[in-house]
Amino acid sequence: RKGRSPEAVVRRYVLKVKTPQDQDCPICMDPLAGPAGYVGPQTGSPARADTVVRLAECGHVQHLGCLLAHYNASYRDGSLQCAICKTVYGVRTGNQPAGKMQFHVIPPSLPGYPDCKTIRIVYNIPAGTQGPEDVNPGKPFTARGFPRHCYLPDTPKGRQVLGLLVVAWERRLIFTVGRSCTSGEEDTVVWNQVHHKTEFGSNLTGHGYPDPGHLASMVDQLRALGVGPDDLL
Ligand code: APR
Ligand code: ZN
Repeated sequence: RKGRSPEAVVRRYVLKVKTPQDQDCPICMDPLAGPAGYVGPQTGSPARADTVVRLAECGHVQHLGCLLAHYNASYRDGSLQCAICKTVYGVRTGNQPAGKMQFHVIPPSLPGYPDCKTIRIVYNIPAGTQGPEDVNPGKPFTARGFPRHCYLPDTPKGRQVLGLLVVAWERRLIFTVGRSCTSGEEDTVVWNQVHHKTEFGSNLTGHGYPDPGHLASMVDQLRALGVGPDDLL
């Protein structure tokens, strides 16, 4: 996966457009009929600066060079996310350090879900050393507040979110290593874009229940990481 060139990755997800319409490239804003606005050593050969491509699923059209620039500015993990509509091509993976995810049902109810039990997720990640896909390879990272406990209602929707979280965990997307917004500490394990509820029984921190829109938000945030209902089959 790592060995595949950016151009080889991008070409898997696109079809060539022979006669571009009279439109501007949504990435560089220059006409599609002319050369790509973003050119550089990593955006393909200059001879192909005029190449225009269409993303296979969402249909968004752009210069190949601009799409390559976009890919190179993102995760470079073999997956590609359309800059316009966020459709994910391939399987996006993250750099979550090694650890353990467990979950079980506990009897008490969450505020707002009086008639059901509760799913408790326990994430545990120990401190370690950053790998090649981290910001500072070879440098140690800390891991604060683990095990971290999170809560979902034990409803059909809650169980669906749990399933999506398991997929996201396996793809190393739940946590990342970086700067904690809360403590300001660098090189530490932090939540990565999916908001978990870590407070049980109240909502003093804003990370608790009741919060009626929360499960739908989690589904959206997981979708933005490329994890969706299709992954549950
Ligand atoms: N519970 C759940 N989510 C949180 C919490 C919390 N207590 N604090 C912050 N977040 C959310 C933030 O709203 C933000 O969207 O996590 C995201 C990343 O915030 P950081 O502060 O960078 O994350 P991190 O350092 O991992 O966590 C802060 O969360 O679970 C607790 O023990 C953890 O106290 C720590 C806190
Ligand atoms: Zn362009």
